[in-house]
Amino acid sequence: MTSKPVLWITRRISDASIERAKKSYDCIINYEDRLYSADEIIEMSSRVDAILPCHSEVFRGDTVEKLHPRVKIIANHSVGVDHCDIPALKARGIAVTNTPDVLSDATAELAFLLMLGAARRAVEGDRMVRKGEWDFWSPAFMVGKQVSGSRIGIIGMGRVGQAMARNARGFGMEVHYHNRSRLSDDKEMGAVFHEDLDSLLGVSDFLSLHCPATPETTDLMNAERIAMMPDGAVLVNSARGALVDEDALIVALESGKLSAAGLDCFVSEPGGNPKFSKLDNVFMLPHIGSATVTTRDAMGFRALDNLDAFFSGNEPKDLL
Ligand code: DGY
Repeated sequence: MTSKPVLWITRRISDASIERAKKSYDCIINYEDRLYSADEIIEMSSRVDAILPCHSEVFRGDTVEKLHPRVKIIANHSVGVDHCDIPALKARGIAVTNTPDVLSDATAELAFLLMLGAARRAVEGDRMVRKGEWDFWSPAFMVGKQVSGSRIGIIGMGRVGQAMARNARGFGMEVHYHNRSRLSDDKEMGAVFHEDLDSLLGVSDFLSLHCPATPETTDLMNAERIAMMPDGAVLVNSARGALVDEDALIVALESGKLSAAGLDCFVSEPGGNPKFSKLDNVFMLPHIGSATVTTRDAMGFRALDNLDAFFSGNEPKDLL
């Protein structure tokens, strides 16, 4: 009997995924769910044939070069791969996969929650009622920004961006987008393409970010670009913290240039940016875009599909 490949599952993925993984792999599972340092990742690599990490495990170039040659594949449990130095991994002959598609709906629904919560002042309202401080009502009380029928700009019209556009249509929003290339008619579904990002910003009463974090998109939403948005606009980020210059966003939220922001991602995670906590017009969540039972199972299964293909000598569907 040939032995099973040894698979290191770096975090506590779903029970159904663990159960399935155990059938095909000798699994080392981080049941205590602690974060491993780069040195520990390097040390662990001599014991395993494959790693199934999340976006929390960082494979920078200097880590990758010290990985043990035994490691053949990194099957990410995430769609975003900005935590991996892909060219360095490829140069080492290590296959890298991700989990696209399966988390698009969950992430877009959370982006919508962020947008609604930010626009309709969910932070202030919830706190007021919860603390027993709700002692007043008037037509002028807690007036927010209406989402239904407004214009939304989407940066990055991949799978999550398209799911966000579907949600927005359900609210009668006029959808505009900027993407590397224009979508086909059946995918565009009447959305207005802006080849030029600045042109999109000018019409985005609500702006939702759905592009990957790369060196080109780091600080994409800086002071200059925020200034191009309509006064009182709302910025939503459920993609990656690196896309936003947080200091510039804080200035815009304090001045009222932006009326609110909904954020699930931060430059520094876990933890976020404590400066946002002082602002009532920021609705924040702790990077939980894909955190539903259905989607966690689907992500685990997709990562395992990629591993199964690799170890049976086929090309994984999500090979990067
Ligand atoms: C992703 O898949 O990229 C999500 O942000 C969770 O890691």
